[in-house]
Amino acid sequence: MKGRVEVIIGAQWGDEGKGRVVDCLGSRVDVFARYQGGSNAGHTVIVDGKKYVFHLLPSGMLYPGKLCVIGNGVVVDPEQLLAEIKDLQSKGMDRARLIVSGSAHVVMPYHKIIDKAQEAFRGKGKKIGTTGRGIGPAYVDKFSRCGIRIEDLFHPDVLRDKLEFNLEDKNRILTRLYNLEPLPFDEIHTQAMNWGKELAAYAGDVSRILYEALESGKTVLFEGAQGTLLDIDHGTYPYVTSSSPVAAGGCVGLGLGPNAVDRVIGVVKAYSTRVGEGPFPTEDSGELGNRLREKGGEYGATTGRPRRCGWLDMVGLKYAVRVNGMTSIALTKLDVLSGLDEISVCVAYDFEGGRLDHFTGNAGVLACATPVFERFEGWKDDIAACRNFDDLPSAAKDYVRYIEKETGVPVQLIGVGPGRDETIVRGL
Ligand code: GDP
Ligand code: IMO
Ligand code: MG
Repeated sequence: MKGRVEVIIGAQWGDEGKGRVVDCLGSRVDVFARYQGGSNAGHTVIVDGKKYVFHLLPSGMLYPGKLCVIGNGVVVDPEQLLAEIKDLQSKGMDRARLIVSGSAHVVMPYHKIIDKAQEAFRGKGKKIGTTGRGIGPAYVDKFSRCGIRIEDLFHPDVLRDKLEFNLEDKNRILTRLYNLEPLPFDEIHTQAMNWGKELAAYAGDVSRILYEALESGKTVLFEGAQGTLLDIDHGTYPYVTSSSPVAAGGCVGLGLGPNAVDRVIGVVKAYSTRVGEGPFPTEDSGELGNRLREKGGEYGATTGRPRRCGWLDMVGLKYAVRVNGMTSIALTKLDVLSGLDEISVCVAYDFEGGRLDHFTGNAGVLACATPVFERFEGWKDDIAACRNFDDLPSAAKDYVRYIEKETGVPVQLIGVGPGRDETIVRGL
């Protein structure tokens, strides 16, 4: 094909700064495409000092005249999507054209209720710490083949039929398993019909649109949500999300073949964060963790929850390089590490008296793994104004070179602040 596909994925547990990297590369992109997840995502973009947080919309929506698509692999909460569109419209920033795949599944009100009820049932110790956005239950319905798709919202008879079946099933779950009130058919049916009316203008065949864009030489950017270690197959199961954030998920979630992909850009935060439950070997619950959280503004863009923080985990990063076929690294938030005397990186784990050199998605093993750290000299200077690699203090350069050496992947973009221009570009 004449065009190019670049995939942007999160290399850790999400919130690596994918939205801002998408935005940084936006001027050379023609089509921005979300391929998985739903409104559990929170992608922050700061342009001219104004902050925008995207949950379902691709982060390219701020670029005038470009095309943004939501693929079949995404689970779409119409209420959230319409609210996001309206919010951008009210700010005069809905500058791109939007297409939503008719095959994308709809997050229904009962999915959100079941998500929260299941979490409450799991209780402390077993809960996942989900965002409560109905993501897991929506994907369950997709895979158990009873889900409602965007295109069903345009056909009253199909919608009625599917909703009747689903509500009978879900109301049994709500009342008998969780002691909750049943949901009224008429109200949900009317709401879904209204969504259909509002969304009809946006529906389209995303796979074909992308294929044709590539045939005509356009550049398409797949925007991953969540991160590799939250992947349903490759993450720290069961403390994961219910989709495939890894790069290969982009082809399935948009309807293109794997040979379409030219480049896989892994977004790597200069340290680690995680929000929700699950093992996190380098987590620091003390002073360092607090410092990273405050300086890095590490509070969830979707739920506002404080993010757990700790040092970079090279074992996890090498794994992310492997399972994504990563060809470039965009290293974000290097500025947050400024001012530390020393910086540590986890290079292996101690586990049951032995040494683990390779990452495992086995949550039980990871929960008992303690990090083996290698220490690096820190740097004092503020680096926010640096725009060239050579402007960085030598200890910061060493840190970047170390990451390149260990992963074998070039660091081609460095974030030194959250704004669009606060980057050092090295060939990306
Ligand atoms: P995403 O979900 O991967 O898009 O990341 P989030 O938007 O949830 O979280 C990343 C946060 O870090 C946002 O508040 C960004 O504005 C901010 N951010 C991204 N890159 C940088 C950077 O290089 N430096 C600093 N200081 N903040 C950054
Ligand atoms: P972005 O795209 C960080 C986490 C939740 C929870 C687990 C499952 O902004 O990086 P879910 O609601 O998906 O069923 O929750 O996944 N999680 C995220 N963590 N960033 C995200 O998205 C996340 N989306 C889900 O906290 O641990
Ligand atoms: Mg986020």
